[in-house]
Amino acid sequence: MATTQAASEKITSVTAIPAFIKDSPKKLLIGGKWVSAKSGKTFESINPATEAVICQVAEGDKADVDEAVKAARKAYETGKWSAMGPHERGRLLLKIADLIEKYADELALLESLDNGKPVVQAKNIDVRGAAAQFRYFAGWPTKIYGETNPSDPSIFSYTLREPMGVCGLIVPWNFPLLMAVQKTAPALACGNTMILKPAEQTPLTALRFGEILLEAGVPEGVVNVITGFGPGAGSSIAEHPDIDKVSFTGSTEVGKLILQASAGNLKRVSLELGGKSPNIVLPDADMDAAVNTAVNGVFFNSGQVCVAGTRIFVQRDQYEGFVERLTQASRKMTIGDPLSPDTRLGPLVSKEQFDRVNNYLEIGKKEGARVTIGGEKVSGKGYFVKPTVFADVDNKMKIAREEIFGPVAAAIPFKDENDAILQGNDTTYGLAAAVWTRDVSRAHRVARALKAGTVWVNNYGSSDVAMPFGGYKQSGFGREGGRHVIDLFTQIKSVYVKL
Ligand code: NAI
Ligand code: MG
Repeated sequence: MATTQAASEKITSVTAIPAFIKDSPKKLLIGGKWVSAKSGKTFESINPATEAVICQVAEGDKADVDEAVKAARKAYETGKWSAMGPHERGRLLLKIADLIEKYADELALLESLDNGKPVVQAKNIDVRGAAAQFRYFAGWPTKIYGETNPSDPSIFSYTLREPMGVCGLIVPWNFPLLMAVQKTAPALACGNTMILKPAEQTPLTALRFGEILLEAGVPEGVVNVITGFGPGAGSSIAEHPDIDKVSFTGSTEVGKLILQASAGNLKRVSLELGGKSPNIVLPDADMDAAVNTAVNGVFFNSGQVCVAGTRIFVQRDQYEGFVERLTQASRKMTIGDPLSPDTRLGPLVSKEQFDRVNNYLEIGKKEGARVTIGGEKVSGKGYFVKPTVFADVDNKMKIAREEIFGPVAAAIPFKDENDAILQGNDTTYGLAAAVWTRDVSRAHRVARALKAGTVWVNNYGSSDVAMPFGGYKQSGFGREGGRHVIDLFTQIKSVYVKL
């Protein structure tokens, strides 16, 4: 998911613990009712800044997914959502946007506690972004047109664009609410019903979102929320014979499993997966802007961003100076308490990610890369990792090939423009890329040559809900955002009428 740093705004009450958390264990939303998992099992949601348990959450599995699918199927077939007039559906989506804004402080606090991201960023980027998604998609129900065909006079043929049916939405933990909304809003706009599965690391905002949907008046069974683990809740969705479509954001590894599981009933699948995005600084670039933006591009959200600009390419004769400036700029990334308004980087989301990223720090050193800042394990409570810059990185090293998903930059030298493009494209991923240059022809030439679903020129991480977003190569397929996501959540019917 792309990111834009918005102006900071104070959160009114970061100390008050939301009543939502006290009401534990949290339950599953099935058919408009909050219910415990059939197994009675729960799991802990952990605050990654303190390692304290926030609350207990129902552990849904296959039996609960089956119930949720039944509820979603019933809601779909009775047409209480898909057959609701498009104006009315649009108004309901606007109401959801209003409620997300009404509860913005609470949602931001829940997100910050559950994920570890700074609460100011949670509010300005995640929660505001979620409201913006609903505002944008509220305009779509009234604009999903079919076509009439210039047929032979004896026949009238036209197309209808209809919902897919029951959709499974499986989302990750890096932007929990925003990812859930990025799929739910267009799926609802197109008239589908759904089962939403948040990541086990960050279930809270999806559950609060479920309450908001009911408050807005979304009919029961239209959106069901199943919390639980990947194997279990997630895999049951991917395999389910009565789910028509799965939309997934997460690791490339699990994306492949989902595609395999979908074969049983030939589910429609869209996948938004990992990345190892090149950020190419050509020698004629505005170096101040390039350095400062590169730092944000790789460290924002503690590097837990699918489009993170993790491979920073700099021409060989400028390389040392740039690395020095990158290192200086990285020092300003204040790391600490996510609830403090001055914090730029919070902890990583989980112990698993903490261990994984620390392991990559060791791998990088063993591979012979030079640490210019960070690079050492932080001790004490919380899953904090310091911003780390590796210099003298070769594009063949593991730290340049594998998605680390932590605050780790790899600075790689290049010879000339062509070499930068070749190295930039030399990756199994293709989610995003950036190029910095003052030469307009060069900018467009390089943008064309880069094999990525999004290319930024002289900026990093801009996004727009009206623009398509998705991957080349093993970064997945399908485009979310704009009119393109409407294709993912609808199917086309051709009708022939004898005249
Ligand atoms: P993951 O891909 O396992 O988790 C993402 C979602 O998939 C979660 O909701 C999880 O419960 C679900 N899931 C897991 N296994 C499943 C299965 N067999 N069937 C259906 N659903 C399943 O990601 P994980 O393990 O948390 O992170 C590992 C790496 O994945 C990260 O280090 C990062 O490189 C990458 N990742 C990429 C993301 C992106 O935005 N593209 C987001 C999260 C992780
Ligand atoms: Mg996993």
